[in-house]
Amino acid sequence: MCGIVAATAERDVVPILIAGLKALEYRGYDSAGLSVLADGALARARTVGKVRELEARLDSEPLHGSSGIAHTRWATHGVPSERNAHPHTSVGSVSVVHNGIIENHEALREQLRASGYEFTSDTDTEVIAHLVHHIAKEGANFRDAVAQAIARLEGAFAIAVMSSDAPGTIVGARRGSPLVVGIGIGEHFLGSDVQALIKVTNRFVYLDEGDLVEITRTSMQVFDADGAAVQRRTHQSELSADAVERGEYRHYMLKEIFEQPRAIAETLEGRIAGHRILPNIFGVGALELLPRVRHVQIVACGTSYHAGLVAKYWLEALAGLPCSIEVASEYRYRKVVVPRDSLFVAISQSGETADTLAALREGKRLGYLGSFAICNVPESSLVRESDLVLMTRAGPEIGVASTKAFTTQLSALALLVLELARLNGLDADRCARFVDDLESLPRRVAAALELEPAIATLAERFVAKHHTLFLGRGVNFPVALEGALKLKEISYIHAEAYPAGELKHGPLALVDEDMPVITVAPNNALLEKLKSNIEEVRARGGELFVFADTSVEIPANGERGAVIKVDAGSDLIAPAVFTVPLQLLAYHVAVLRGTDVDQPRNLAKSVTVE
Ligand code: G6P
Repeated sequence: MCGIVAATAERDVVPILIAGLKALEYRGYDSAGLSVLADGALARARTVGKVRELEARLDSEPLHGSSGIAHTRWATHGVPSERNAHPHTSVGSVSVVHNGIIENHEALREQLRASGYEFTSDTDTEVIAHLVHHIAKEGANFRDAVAQAIARLEGAFAIAVMSSDAPGTIVGARRGSPLVVGIGIGEHFLGSDVQALIKVTNRFVYLDEGDLVEITRTSMQVFDADGAAVQRRTHQSELSADAVERGEYRHYMLKEIFEQPRAIAETLEGRIAGHRILPNIFGVGALELLPRVRHVQIVACGTSYHAGLVAKYWLEALAGLPCSIEVASEYRYRKVVVPRDSLFVAISQSGETADTLAALREGKRLGYLGSFAICNVPESSLVRESDLVLMTRAGPEIGVASTKAFTTQLSALALLVLELARLNGLDADRCARFVDDLESLPRRVAAALELEPAIATLAERFVAKHHTLFLGRGVNFPVALEGALKLKEISYIHAEAYPAGELKHGPLALVDEDMPVITVAPNNALLEKLKSNIEEVRARGGELFVFADTSVEIPANGERGAVIKVDAGSDLIAPAVFTVPLQLLAYHVAVLRGTDVDQPRNLAKSVTVE
């Protein structure tokens, strides 16, 4: 999704802006651009496609300047094109980059047209540039003009604005979309996230909702939603620039798949001791709050939603607590009845997903017992706005298709579920066995990764396919959903997941020699039921690929499929273990099909607009 970088310094900021845009590439985008102030005038370069196209343009038509704003655009209003790429300017003197959606842009456009402004793009963003210009023309200074302009905007956004009338000054603002301030030595920056700026500073100020910030080379001043000057704390980021490098791997996604044993181990680190979950790991207030929980409401999007679905099975089976789960975009817009003593759990890798954040805010309004975030980004809005937090420690995830975030979310959720299970009477021995199981997860995931060469070979059988069906039962049904999501996201093969028991109610009609069926077969109480479903596929001549626990005997389907053995373990850890070969399969199919694995078409890593 759109990314913002801005810098004001003594040196030429163009290399900083380009490096920042590259660090934001992972969010997904379709065009890029920048504006700098050079010799008192604004100069702009914009290109469709990757940041390297912008670089190439700058090689042939160089720009330099000591202050500038830059952007990667993910189209919402207007097709991806150079004229719609940001920055957008007004009368050559105001330049704006914007992340989010201005909902009242049509009304503003009409008013500004009536005032004589000409529009050169189809975007909602351009109204901001003209509005700032219009207000400044009436006599407001630059910062006030931006403040007055945003007061007239409806919707969610983060912006960075510069003006040739205020050389060296950049004004940023956030309402609903993330924006951080980077503090350098004699220079200041703005970025959509810490990663965009980590090469130039490790000191950051996280803006609050509604904040406006004015930066110059030597100063930074934040104003809150009421326009009052405020102090926001400076944080030292622990992110290292190396953590966002691809290293020897061909793609970030592959690197991140292979990082899973370590990421899971780190997520569990210091949170388990003596076969028990340590009681103080859920933060201040948890000891008092968690024992009161009688119901859990989970809200999330995409892969994080799949992690939540797994947790629902666990919560009801192990803790005996009723659990509801819903995708955030649905939850936030319907009339919700909140059961008594319900805990609101939001799961998000980025902590900036617009729908998940809106659902959290709605949940707080509705009066849950408390809010609990499972998140991978410590500085994110979700973390800052939740009562209790359990961080996944996956490290930066760059590939748009989520991998290590998912398995670390499962690990964190397992910790929460086991604690709630203990509080609700799960006996100590069973609890200890589950905790031991959980500790074996990094080792089992590492073993599953050894299947990579076999899965790379298997992938060849999917390259020419147009559709795939994934089946799972019980706690592994969400695994089927996640496997299908991975395949469709990065290989563009249509993939659907069904609970295996639903096969006869429709999808079986699709099964023929051109429709491969993939299923995971754990050694649990549902195995015999699953075997019947497998026979139903076989009997229709379907091609069948089974990822089966090592202890499960399932006959191979001759030429028409394969059985791959995985040491999956109990229902508490099998979902994470089985997910690994499905990730690898999606990855290798995508590589063979030649798609853009890390930045699949049309998708964004961090969906900061609804
Ligand atoms: C986007 C990403 C997915 C992710 C989802 C939720 O769709 O492409 O990989 O699962 O957003 O993101 P979150 O950061 O809230 O987990």
